[in-house]
Amino acid sequence: MRTWIRSLRPFDAVTVHPIIERTIDLREAERFIRQFHTENPEAGDPSGRLRQVARDVARYGTYTHTAAELEFGARVAWRNSSRCIGRLYWRSLKVRDRRQVSGAEGVALECVEHLREAGGDGKVRPTITVFAQDTPARRGPRVLNEQLIRYAGHRTADGATVGDPRNAELTELARTLGWRGGPGRFDVLPLIIQPGFGAPLLCNLPGDAVLEVAITHPEYRWFADLGLRWHAVPAISGMCLEIGGICYPCAPFNGWYMGAEIGARNLADADRYDQLPVIAERLGLDTSTERSLWRDHALVELNVAVLHSFEAAGVTMTDHHTESRRFLTHLAREEKAGRVCPADWSWIVPPISGGTTPVFHRYYDERELTPAFVHHR
Ligand code: ARG
Repeated sequence: MRTWIRSLRPFDAVTVHPIIERTIDLREAERFIRQFHTENPEAGDPSGRLRQVARDVARYGTYTHTAAELEFGARVAWRNSSRCIGRLYWRSLKVRDRRQVSGAEGVALECVEHLREAGGDGKVRPTITVFAQDTPARRGPRVLNEQLIRYAGHRTADGATVGDPRNAELTELARTLGWRGGPGRFDVLPLIIQPGFGAPLLCNLPGDAVLEVAITHPEYRWFADLGLRWHAVPAISGMCLEIGGICYPCAPFNGWYMGAEIGARNLADADRYDQLPVIAERLGLDTSTERSLWRDHALVELNVAVLHSFEAAGVTMTDHHTESRRFLTHLAREEKAGRVCPADWSWIVPPISGGTTPVFHRYYDERELTPAFVHHR
């Protein structure tokens, strides 16, 4: 079952950008085409393609990637993501080429299909769906949600938030546009899709597109009573994919979760679900002094619970020790291929037990490379 809620109100909460007058940067296009041909020798000599791209940019202010260029560009954007520890499998990214889709309903349907294909059955597959690019004549569509699956953050009268405070603004926007949901702690927000032209569309995600795992602990039975859960597929939808000067403003992509993202951030951060005090109390820890290390103790049990629950549910998830080792394998491979592997230490080091993982004990190249995923301006 799929529900459309077409907004009747003028769309005032988000700026609708004017038509872009800028043509794309031909040098960036050329650099990408050369890179594509260097790394894919079977594509042959680039000179014909370079002439074609230069001609299209002169005529239309933009050009169109071939399917092979798009696939390569999306994979390299992942390879260049300096904040991502999980890049070892960058070549396996499945690219869903949906560049012909620009209408809001089409984007909604394909996002739902993306979630089903990328992990509906518990086996999570790194996947990206690429929608229409920006052109000088028309902007591509956008998803206003930061991720395809986001839990609502309901602000209450006393200033508290029920649910995920990170999404409080998005929740308010959804309400302004006609959403009537809540007020639970884990209400999945509708997609808010802003097409290049026209009114935004709200789309409730059907249940079978949103696989979730209830969090239980292998030893503590009471853990289930906390009522915690998280979704299986982290699908980032709030970033543009930039390849060879072209911007794809709507290109949701996902990998699988590393347990600590949920156990040491989403459910633990004081400005998110803030569960450490609750867990510490159930564990009977002394929370009157920092020196009892109650936070640390509770954090470990929460992370044990997250990893255990996903495993028991048959849902793909990795742990931060394994992923740290894989990342160093990735670095070594990139080096061997003669490439720079950009990495941001503050994002790569896991938010729990940093010093016990090998990624902690070194520095990284901080260059910014393209193709890339970038935040919307
Ligand atoms: N940290 C984000 C979250 O907890 C997801 C970022 C992407 N993570 C990933 N494993 N691909 O939702």
